[in-house]
Amino acid sequence: MDIRLLDSPEEMAAVEALERLVWPGNETEIVPVHMLRAVTNNGGALIGAYDGDQLVGFVFGFPGIEETPSGPRPKHASHMAGIHPEYRDQGLGFTLKRAQWQVVRGQGLDHIVWTYDPLQSRNANLNIAKLGAVCNTYLPEYYGEMRDGLNVGLPSDRFKVDWWLNTPRVEQRLQRQRRPRLDLEHFTKSGASIVNPATFREDGLLEPFADSPLLPGLPAPLLIVEIPPDFPALKSASPDLALVWRLHTRRIFLGLFAAGYIVTDFVFEPGVQPRSFYVLSDGNRNLT
Ligand SMILES: CC(C)(COP(=O)(O)OP(=O)(O)OC[C@H]1O[C@@H](n2cnc3c(N)ncnc32)[C@H](O)[C@@H]1OP(=O)(O)O)[C@@H](O)C(=O)NCCC(=O)NCCS
Repeated sequence: MDIRLLDSPEEMAAVEALERLVWPGNETEIVPVHMLRAVTNNGGALIGAYDGDQLVGFVFGFPGIEETPSGPRPKHASHMAGIHPEYRDQGLGFTLKRAQWQVVRGQGLDHIVWTYDPLQSRNANLNIAKLGAVCNTYLPEYYGEMRDGLNVGLPSDRFKVDWWLNTPRVEQRLQRQRRPRLDLEHFTKSGASIVNPATFREDGLLEPFADSPLLPGLPAPLLIVEIPPDFPALKSASPDLALVWRLHTRRIFLGLFAAGYIVTDFVFEPGVQPRSFYVLSDGNRNLT
């Protein structure tokens, strides 16, 4: 794969076309060439991945300002990352984000933020487990009503993640030699409790435990929150159940973040019945 910064209108037209493939169904959700060009001419970064002549992935973001207790501070806001459906699960999302990390560090910044749907297990795996981003901010209905094929029909709740570029945590996750994959047992044997143990319904769909206590067995250094392993499939099989998951996890994450917990890891257990779990650390204790 050829990974490079994109700056010509022709390259940006290819990005537009790829956006239409990744977020099908509504033209208003597309960032057009003129906006891509204006942003990249003013400190933004549009990075593409090519297989031969074909653009198969991109990541796009822009510089921004965040308010902190010590005053306004510059950051980078990553707005979109999209991989051609035939090129997913091959490490391309990771490679593009690592290129973004290099470009933004080169601009002298140390913080990239972005949002994603917390029920998208693959995105969670990439953002939290592979890249080492952390999250303690839940944004209900962040984008209002969305119309594209990925998001239509559900409240557009989002995690806002923080990617602290110069931390040992992130530098270690970005090394070419990957850390060993951790399974759920690794965390439960360390004393982590599962907040919302889910069960399979007769139709094979995973259902959340309706009466999950919000803060079981506190104080607990680690907590685990289960999500569906394939939310798009669950949503198309049962929009009602998808809404149940949205509201169930909204309640849990809002409560846990308010109590000081931080999402610090993610476990995906593939197999005949795959399962997906966020790991949250008690932010009131020292984090490692
Ligand atoms: C999210 C996206 C950018 C990820 O790109 P990608 O190239 O597939 O990412 P990677 O291959 O680097 O990482 C994905 C990881 O998730 C794993 N994975 C696959 N299915 C999974 C699932 N259901 N649950 C959890 N992890 C899963 C992959 O195996 C891979 O991990 P591995 O490297 O340990 O094998 C891509 O899937 C995409 O374009 N999605 C649609 C648009 C989108 O959601 N964009 C992001 C928000 S703007």
